[in-house]
Amino acid sequence: MIRDVEKPTSEAGLTLLDKLKLLNFRCFHHLELNVPEGLSLFTGQNASGKTTLLEAISYISTGKLLRSHRDRDAVRSDETHCEVSGILSPSQTEISIQIPEVGKKVASINKMSLPKASDLLGRLPTTSITAFDLPLSQGDPASRRMFLDLEIGALQPSYVHKLAIYKRALEQRNSLLKMAMQTVIDQDQFEAWEFAMAESGSYVRQQRQVYFAKLAPLASSAYQEIAKKEILSLFLKEEEGGLDTESLQQAFALSRSHDMRRGSTSLGPHRDDFGMEIDGKDVKNYGSQGQQRSVAIALKAGSFQVSRETSGTPPLLLLDDMLSDLDEYRRTALAALVINQSHQALLTCTEASSVSNHIVSRASELKVSNGEVTWK
Ligand SMILES: Nc1ncnc2c1ncn2[C@@H]1O[C@H](COP(=O)(O)OP(=O)(O)OP(=O)(O)O)[C@@H](O)[C@H]1O
Ligand SMILES: [Mg+2]
Repeated sequence: MIRDVEKPTSEAGLTLLDKLKLLNFRCFHHLELNVPEGLSLFTGQNASGKTTLLEAISYISTGKLLRSHRDRDAVRSDETHCEVSGILSPSQTEISIQIPEVGKKVASINKMSLPKASDLLGRLPTTSITAFDLPLSQGDPASRRMFLDLEIGALQPSYVHKLAIYKRALEQRNSLLKMAMQTVIDQDQFEAWEFAMAESGSYVRQQRQVYFAKLAPLASSAYQEIAKKEILSLFLKEEEGGLDTESLQQAFALSRSHDMRRGSTSLGPHRDDFGMEIDGKDVKNYGSQGQQRSVAIALKAGSFQVSRETSGTPPLLLLDDMLSDLDEYRRTALAALVINQSHQALLTCTEASSVSNHIVSRASELKVSNGEVTWK
């Protein structure tokens, strides 16, 4: 059963994507698309470019590709450079990322370059739910940390800044640790980087705790909506070294000789993780494929709700072919959880028949074929 469409309480600050322009992005040569408000359904055969469209939008939202760590992978294979840009409404602000022939990607707002691509975070809040989220409930802790970092960073730019300070200081400490395997290093040098790590790391951990306290109950109730009787519990794993600057600094100092032997830093926010259990059983090691898939979706649905509650408006929703593998009950529950609460949602699937009639009847339908998009 689909619930009544719930409208956000505040219209203030609502950002929509008006236009999407692609140049040489993956299979696309040149595309200019007027993105519909509300719900749109992109259908097309396998390898027609559906995921690429959502990835392009996510790219200008987060500064990161969905399916690759190397930006250059997104440049059309017979071309040397690429660009994705979006015009936002109502401000008509243009946000874009260029990957030039030589050098790193450049993010811009209204053609003015930004120091980092992550400075785009928060301009066009999005929640993507795609197969690339599956490692959240299966893979290594890095995917869960990246999820938290992107979600918190989109809501709070100072988080991205502190995290960058932490990562830089960590790199410096790690290179000192490696040098210490060959030669004697002045301990003061360690102390300086450890202080920077403790100061920024304590901020990062505290913000992760605050965010997680909001996310966990929302993701658990999203899971219950999707999976009926089962209970999902989420918990942050023990944060070795503690939360405040002083105790973290002490923990780094205490682990120094151990870390010198291994040549890298053994504790800190770069090692944190959260656990997931269904009815008391670890999801990674016991969960069925369907359960793991539903947990990944529930985490993203939870992050959609946190973003919506924190900013007062729902993020743009990018839902990639995730409905077709779910049974009718789960599809409907997911629709009620996120689609019905969005001002703008882009869904993809190979066949419109795999999506419930309720969605199809409300959606603008577009066809994706050979790197082109046409209205149906
Ligand atoms: N850098 C690139 N240059 C050219 N083509 C690329 C590049 N990266 C990916 N592709 C191709 O783009 C095509 C579209 O991929 P995409 O993942 O968007 O398809 P899709 O419509 O989502 O398909 P499916 O239904 O199988 O998920 C694929 O053929 C893929 O190999
Ligand atoms: Mg796809």
